[in-house]
Amino acid sequence: MRKIYVFDTTLRDGEQSPGVNLNTREKVEIAHQLEKLGIDRMEAGFPAASPGDLAAVNAVARAVKNVTVIGLSRSREQDIDAVREALIGAQDPCIHIFLATSPIHRKHKLRMDKEQVLETAQSAIRYARKYFSKIEFSLEDAGRTEYDFIAQMVGMAIQEGASVVNIPDTVGYLNPSEYGAIFKFVKENVPDVEKIQLSAHCHNDLGMATANTLAAIQNGADQIEGTINGIGERAGNTAIEEVAMALATRQSFFNATTSLQLSEIARTSRLVSKLTGMVVPGNKAIVGANAFAHESGIHQDGMLKEKTTYEIMTPESIGLKESKLVLGKHSGRHAFREKLIDLGYELDDLQVNDAFAKFKDLADKKKEVSDEDLLALIEEKLIDT
Ligand code: KIV
Ligand code: ZN
Repeated sequence: MRKIYVFDTTLRDGEQSPGVNLNTREKVEIAHQLEKLGIDRMEAGFPAASPGDLAAVNAVARAVKNVTVIGLSRSREQDIDAVREALIGAQDPCIHIFLATSPIHRKHKLRMDKEQVLETAQSAIRYARKYFSKIEFSLEDAGRTEYDFIAQMVGMAIQEGASVVNIPDTVGYLNPSEYGAIFKFVKENVPDVEKIQLSAHCHNDLGMATANTLAAIQNGADQIEGTINGIGERAGNTAIEEVAMALATRQSFFNATTSLQLSEIARTSRLVSKLTGMVVPGNKAIVGANAFAHESGIHQDGMLKEKTTYEIMTPESIGLKESKLVLGKHSGRHAFREKLIDLGYELDDLQVNDAFAKFKDLADKKKEVSDEDLLALIEEKLIDT
């Protein structure tokens, strides 16, 4: 089974979600929880962005012990110096340098030709090598970059001593077969590629970040990058919990695993949501409130007979107590009766029939019938009889 390294960027790309601003105390609190979750590498921020972020990265670097702490840097000496300062005290520091490589970015943003991009990145990595033994280099917008230029840039980064090279789909543009093909091409065509780890970093603009990340793994990626709850720029980054659970649930298909403590997923998700203020949608895969909830009578009946009928993974595996059978207008008699038993009422068939009819009337008026509603309904029924 191949181990896939997990690079968490909740504190950097995740914090780039519009409206999110984590202070130092909040970053450290999330960092401790990420450590418990068992991620391998943590990007704590972008030290050159502000003195506050530099201080926060430094606090994280000093607080965590068993995780590589990473600071982001543009291909500039001042940024690299800021990361040096921010990572003082880190047990295992790493710098993450990036430069855009696509024709669109070269022409409109950088106003550089290919040669200038190559030289700028090369001198940045060379400068960083004086101070860091671990360097990740990212080809920003690699997803829209010419294959031959990707190969040239990855080759240069290897020669300059990068330990990880990241091939991001910065704008979430590619589909899984296209993204996977880039990894296959790099693996097959770049000399000495086995000396480095290849990393996948996807954005979710077309809703394909998780699928693209999994395609990269199938085509040789050694590391995946993402955030908790998939937060991040625009439509967000790859949700780490989705990739980890896909690998765990479909182990024989992917033959790859992470070292995450899966039972810490729910707690980590709740903490990130609370501190960033980004509410997790109910239907979000793995960590949404409905991910293990069942409302329809047919599904509830199946669940009561055998949980694998409608659940491909257990709520316990991500640290939740149990699945929820939500009573609403689609619910059936079986779940209704079980709920009454849970609430301490063993009614005979006639009483159940009568109460069930009243419940259906109520369910037509309310989205979800709560335990309190049911108790009121039963008490009223028992007083009537
Ligand atoms: O999406 C991206 O390309 C990035 C880089 C800084 C790696 O976040
Ligand atoms: Zn990104």
